[in-house]
Amino acid sequence: MPKLTVEGFPTVDIEPGKRLVLAIKEDSGVDILHACGGNARCTTCRVEFLAGEPSSMTPAEKTKLEERNLSGVRLSCQITCDQDMTVRAISRLAGSGRPDPGKTPEPTIQP
Ligand code: FES
Repeated sequence: MPKLTVEGFPTVDIEPGKRLVLAIKEDSGVDILHACGGNARCTTCRVEFLAGEPSSMTPAEKTKLEERNLSGVRLSCQITCDQDMTVRAISRLAGSGRPDPGKTPEPTIQP
């Protein structure tokens, strides 16, 4: 099973193929934002990789990161846990001023 470490939180085992945003939320227990519900539209699910960054990217993630001119971050809703990963959760509900983190993303990558 792949291991996920969110900086500042304990390392946890993740069901292979689980969406990273859901693993961070449900397994690591971190209040990550996912304002668009995991559809590569909002970029609030962004994380910084400290280790284990996947080399591939969904077309939707690539397009959105380019559109927003973002570098050094990845969209956790567009990544599945297929290997050990260490990330920094840089976009969390706490301190965001938002009423909630957003609709829970579907189990499979969208769109
Ligand atoms: S881009 Fe909105 S949840 Fe990932």
